[in-house]
Amino acid sequence: MTTTQDNPLLQGLLGERRPEPCAMVIFGASGDLTRRKLVPALYTLASERKLPAGFAIVGMARRDIPFVEQMHQAVARHARRRPIDSELWQGFAAGLSYIPGAFDDPAAYERLRAHLARIDQERGTRGNRVFYISTPPESFVDIITHLGRAGMISAGNEPFTRVIIEKPFGRDLQSAQALNDTCLSVLREEQIYRIDHYLGKETVQNILVFRFANGIFEPLWNNRYIDNVQLTVAESIGIEGRGSYYDRAGTLRDMVQNHMFQLLALMAMEPPVAFEPDAVRDEKVKVLRALRELPLDEIERWTVRGQYGPGYDQGQAVPGYREEPGVSPSSLTETYVALKLYIDNWRWGGVPIYVRAGKRMPKRVSEIAITFKSVPHALLAQGGRLSQEPNVLALRIQPDEGITLKFLSKTPGPTMDPRPVTMDFRYGTSFGAEPPEAYERLLLDCMLGDSTLFTRGDEVLASWRFCTRVLQGWAQADERRRGPLPQYEAGTWGPKEAAELLARDGRAWRRP
Ligand code: BG6
Repeated sequence: MTTTQDNPLLQGLLGERRPEPCAMVIFGASGDLTRRKLVPALYTLASERKLPAGFAIVGMARRDIPFVEQMHQAVARHARRRPIDSELWQGFAAGLSYIPGAFDDPAAYERLRAHLARIDQERGTRGNRVFYISTPPESFVDIITHLGRAGMISAGNEPFTRVIIEKPFGRDLQSAQALNDTCLSVLREEQIYRIDHYLGKETVQNILVFRFANGIFEPLWNNRYIDNVQLTVAESIGIEGRGSYYDRAGTLRDMVQNHMFQLLALMAMEPPVAFEPDAVRDEKVKVLRALRELPLDEIERWTVRGQYGPGYDQGQAVPGYREEPGVSPSSLTETYVALKLYIDNWRWGGVPIYVRAGKRMPKRVSEIAITFKSVPHALLAQGGRLSQEPNVLALRIQPDEGITLKFLSKTPGPTMDPRPVTMDFRYGTSFGAEPPEAYERLLLDCMLGDSTLFTRGDEVLASWRFCTRVLQGWAQADERRRGPLPQYEAGTWGPKEAAELLARDGRAWRRP
């Protein structure tokens, strides 16, 4: 009989989340992500007693850096639990160490192997390893290949080896396929944890709870009742000094292929047979595979790209995208994208799904808004006009996490005048607690061997298949292009072409 002790998934479901002793190696330990997210998240887990005894973190990067000192500052600035508790920090820091080394140097992996063997002896980590690859993508293949060659990947589950791979997982279908092949030549799929931090967000996970733990919404969740869906991920920030990365990526690669398509998949998937890694991911991949291919020669009827020009962020003047450091002054990289999609299956057939993401929008807001079909016959007048204002269910991912339902209500008084009102649920008010950071949940899940909230290879490839076609369509359109991409002033809701995309269907974007 399986007991919770030997079933980490069951432990997870029951809330008894304590992983087996292990060491985590962070490749790219001198980078921003390690400082801002990874180590602060691990410290918070330590403060909540969720890490296993003897847990060790080994940083690795080319430069020699005062790792422990830097991590102390990083935790002091970025951990959710602040100020730092000095006794807790001492215990946590005892497990921190650093090895300088180039990712293409076999000798560095030999040093790492010997170092990890010592840690096993001293801290009882039993050969269990999580390798976190948080480097620029150029090093992914080197690291995976060298780990394999150095014999650092265990064949079985005891001890375990798990490899977390940061985004971007490829830059188009072909490169994602090649990277996936490299991974699978060294690792089993169950050992690969492709991370998408959106899946670690509480509100993103709540899409599944909302849909599959409540009886009243699911019967309406289909093309009979839903008119259209809008997914928005707006950011007020610009590219934050990441010009040379961003100019090669663009919003489709940076936000849509990964984060937004994960939101889309969770919103649109069928109920899985169980809350288990493969059952959930089987259903998500079906959604991505059902995305209708966009016509190459009409790509600009289905998609809109934009670039922010100079403007304002909270009253401060900010430069246009093409003036940002690291960006080509003639760049055709999009900082805004809007798409119209169809999921060609029984549930969603005929329901347009509008997706938009952009930098330098008026505010930071991510939401999924489901607009239901209007009543078949308008009976009541609102301000003299017959009212067919639709019901809208908005799942607010961030900030002000919550869910609102808009419906019509009678205006007090002697008439039957209906007015829209909202029913609000807010996380903060209902649960009175700050939600954990996405990385806390995902790092813990990986240590527990639970890959439900990580993307499987076929999912990544399905999403790239769709996005690569869009990229091809854009490349063709650019051969005919004279002049820049459609521009929008920084601090506004995107180019006018985006409004036209919906206006052609008789619709408008929501103002979240
Ligand atoms: C990252 C992108 O993956 O997600 C960034 O590279 C973006 O460009 C960020 O700003 C958004 O994440 P969040 O959690 O702030 O919504």
